[in-house]
Amino acid sequence: MSMQEKMKILVADDESEIRLTLEEIFAEDGYDVVCASDEKEILAGLTSDIDMAIIDIKLGSDNGIGVLKKIKAANPSLPVVMITGFGTVALAKEAFKLGAHDFLEKPLRLLQVRTCVRNALEGVQLRKKLNQKAVTGNGDLVLSSHAMKQLYIQASKLSYIKETVVITGPSGSGKDLLARHLHYNGPRSNGPFIATNAASMPLTLAEDELFGHEKGAFTGADKKREGCFERAHGGTLFIDEIADMDIQIQAKMLRVLENGIFSRLGSTANVKVDVRIVCATHKNIELLVKEGKFRHDLWYRISAFVLKVPGLAQRREDIIPLAEHFLMQICKELGMTKKFSRGARDLLQEIEYPGNVRELKNLITRLAVYADQDEITCDDIDAQREKRMESSNHNGDDESVVMYSDGNNAMMDFKIARIQFEKEFLRNALEKNTWNITATARAIGMAQSNLSRKLKELEIEK
Ligand SMILES: Nc1ncnc2c1ncn2[C@@H]1O[C@H](COP(=O)(O)OP(=O)(O)OP(=O)(O)O)[C@@H](O)[C@H]1O
Ligand SMILES: [Mg+2]
Repeated sequence: MSMQEKMKILVADDESEIRLTLEEIFAEDGYDVVCASDEKEILAGLTSDIDMAIIDIKLGSDNGIGVLKKIKAANPSLPVVMITGFGTVALAKEAFKLGAHDFLEKPLRLLQVRTCVRNALEGVQLRKKLNQKAVTGNGDLVLSSHAMKQLYIQASKLSYIKETVVITGPSGSGKDLLARHLHYNGPRSNGPFIATNAASMPLTLAEDELFGHEKGAFTGADKKREGCFERAHGGTLFIDEIADMDIQIQAKMLRVLENGIFSRLGSTANVKVDVRIVCATHKNIELLVKEGKFRHDLWYRISAFVLKVPGLAQRREDIIPLAEHFLMQICKELGMTKKFSRGARDLLQEIEYPGNVRELKNLITRLAVYADQDEITCDDIDAQREKRMESSNHNGDDESVVMYSDGNNAMMDFKIARIQFEKEFLRNALEKNTWNITATARAIGMAQSNLSRKLKELEIEK
């Protein structure tokens, strides 16, 4: 983070005059200012990467102390200065216990305000640097672009609070990964991470999946079954494709979100759970809300924290770091060493990836497996891309067809991709050795028994 980057201060007061005065002072001093007049606006402001907050202890009908608690839970290191006035001494003491950084007494005095802010911001810069390092230091994630770094800093903050988060972004952009980050980075990381998908499930099945059932709830329900909500107790429930959730289930969701209570199918007894919910979708829910296809009240309830993952086209500077990362990963796994030629690197940078990171990952995996030399060239890339075109033209049951012809389909994950590569790789090797198992095994450095087992497993026959 450069020193020139402006520090950002959140100013929250229900009196517009105080907000305006502080905003003016801080703008003059070269800070960015976000203003808020109530709790909702403050919590929303938290996501815009502020460096400190100044909050009136009396916030109209909202309680400044309550807000302080939430902020501290979300971001323990954020300095929060409380504005106190006559008759709020007791509250001020409580705020101090809760970790308020300092106090500003009304009537506010310019010098006092400036000193207080300067003190509070000391050290924030350094912490920012460390924070960023910690985030980028995560071995599984490539975060090169500014957009992704910011997104992960935001997510890291949100991982400490219980509020629902909605992750939006095109297919294959990394929504899943971000959801896991929210869980494993926060205080719930020792609890379960349960993932489910709300799309295209018939009503009863979806209810059963989420809420579970009692014994005898329906024909075939021969024992009690816990749903995702119960299994996620103490942890995180990740609901993918939330936009496609059945409208009747949405009503039930709303109830769980409001008080953590639901009942299993075939029972009226309330079950209470402590679950943090993270949702994802590649659809534009706001549009669906307008069209009446998604409940307005549910959207309102879950949309305070929305994380938008940009597609790869919006952050092309991530392409090469991601490509290098995937190549290294698969080389390690397959015990080989490969690298990209300079031309290959340029070409990778130019290509469009409608399937986003997933598509790039698939391409790199194919390259790692198929390229003949240690250096992956433009020709290798062209060959793999041609193959891709061919396979999306013919209509086989090849998994890659699903992936490449329909960027929205999430079925093609790494495992499926690998199985497919193995199949093609072994088939090639067998062809080259006229289907002689002993010769093939020797050629690819595999024990003959292993090869035979593999062929059976993958159902490879001449
Ligand atoms: N920043 C990243 N660093 C490393 N790997 C990534 C990154 N982003 C995505 N990936 C990888 O790309 C693939 C697709 O990511 P993910 O499954 O999270 O996408 P998604 O947005 O959930 O897709 P879909 O909309 O299809 O569900 C995964 O294999 C994931 O590990
Ligand atoms: Mg996903």
